[in-house]
Amino acid sequence: MLPAKVTVDPAFVVGPVRPRTFGSFVEHLGRCVYTGIHDPGHATADATGFRQDVIDAIKELGVTTVRYPGGNFVSGYNWEDAIGPVEDRPARLDLAWHSTEPNTVGVDEFMAWCQKADVEPMMAINLGTRGVREAIDILEYCNIPGGTEWSDKRRTNGAEDPYRIKMWCLGNEMDGPWQTGHKTAEEYGRIAAEAARAMRQVNPDLELVACGSSSRQMDTFGDWERTVLTETYEQVDLISAHAYYAEMDGDLASFLASSENMDRFIDDVVSTADAVRAAGNHTKRINISFDEWNVWYAHLTPSAPPTGDDWPVAPALLEDNYNVADAVVVGNLLISLLRHTDRVHAASLAQLVNVIAPIMTEPADQGGRIWKQTTFHPFALTARHAKGQVLRVAIDSPTHETQQFGTVKALDAVATFDAETGDVVVFATNRSTDQGLGLELDLRGFGDLKVVEAVTYSNDDPYWKASVEDDTTVLPQVNASATITDGTVTADLPAVSWSMIRLARA
Ligand code: AHR
Repeated sequence: MLPAKVTVDPAFVVGPVRPRTFGSFVEHLGRCVYTGIHDPGHATADATGFRQDVIDAIKELGVTTVRYPGGNFVSGYNWEDAIGPVEDRPARLDLAWHSTEPNTVGVDEFMAWCQKADVEPMMAINLGTRGVREAIDILEYCNIPGGTEWSDKRRTNGAEDPYRIKMWCLGNEMDGPWQTGHKTAEEYGRIAAEAARAMRQVNPDLELVACGSSSRQMDTFGDWERTVLTETYEQVDLISAHAYYAEMDGDLASFLASSENMDRFIDDVVSTADAVRAAGNHTKRINISFDEWNVWYAHLTPSAPPTGDDWPVAPALLEDNYNVADAVVVGNLLISLLRHTDRVHAASLAQLVNVIAPIMTEPADQGGRIWKQTTFHPFALTARHAKGQVLRVAIDSPTHETQQFGTVKALDAVATFDAETGDVVVFATNRSTDQGLGLELDLRGFGDLKVVEAVTYSNDDPYWKASVEDDTTVLPQVNASATITDGTVTADLPAVSWSMIRLARA
């Protein structure tokens, strides 16, 4: 065990824990919607075909917002195809995922599902093949009480009350050459500003998200944000960031340090947004919607879409099977999002069910079982217990070398403090591949505390994966080494591990 020290003080407030940090994403992609959240033949399905067992798992995961309907899918989507009687809806080619979209689920079904799942919708509009007209039409359909063509159609389709959707994404990853209707930053900035302006004429108090970069590795990163925000600054509230991580070429050390990339990505977008603010003499600040983040083995076969004449409905795509190390990285990425809570105002784990997801389902006609991936656990525990204010922590940790990020600290951590209840929660990862850490956690600034719960997620084999047959052999375990004396906690943190230590007033 190498010693590592963390000091936490109630004075070091970054900002509030934002419920929207624990958002997720449902795209019409693979089996996320069809045979994922929606499977009419399933034993737990309701009258509209939504699986209750999936909703129960989503509630246990603690998801707060759900981005919909894409993703790359949205850039070729006609939302009007998926309203009204299901038997009249056309099937369409989905160019993004080389699939057939049956349009059985559309905005009305999704909104009914959001209510059941108790999540806030975050709706994305198509700025790939469409534009301002479509943006205001779908907004009118969703948010106007009645008395117009689109709002009356919604009422005819069964939704008497308007949905009053607040958060809207102005397109998806428009910087990506793979995107249907891909645009330059200038082209996108113009159309996003025009769409936003028109949408605000309908509903002035919307929260609008402009597309930022699809990753920090994009050649256009930085310039894209500067150009897009220069065009849209007064019209939007947030700019998106997307990032996926994977262990490449057996380089576990770099993979475990993925939050270094996320930290830098966030810091760079904040700097760029603030530079545009200064240059334009704006008053408000633009914050970040990190509305796609996760581990994704995008280079492996399960991510490859069909080709040629094969245009299947809901094929199994992007069904990555996560290991323990992946879960440690997911937990660490949440630590990064939390410590930036002053500027990251929303985030979406991409995605929610079956597609690079914490929740997996078998189709009803193939057994219909549901199971949890390893990544479910750190997300669920963080979403449930991070409360109050996020506190910046001082970390004194052994370091090691990584190929991608140079010298990194083995220990990463963040804390939350609920001033009302007095609860303190520390989330920590040991990113070393082989070295345990002896944690010393200085909490003397909080007065008398006791340890309420300490759990660690790790395994002798960090490559252990859950499956439909076994998703319980490796679960977060009580960390019996955690004890507190005179305001200082000591605990052992094994290599490749994620931990949560909860404390309350003694
Ligand atoms: O989440 C999977 C895909 O990743 C999304 O459709 C797209 O926005 C991103 O490239």
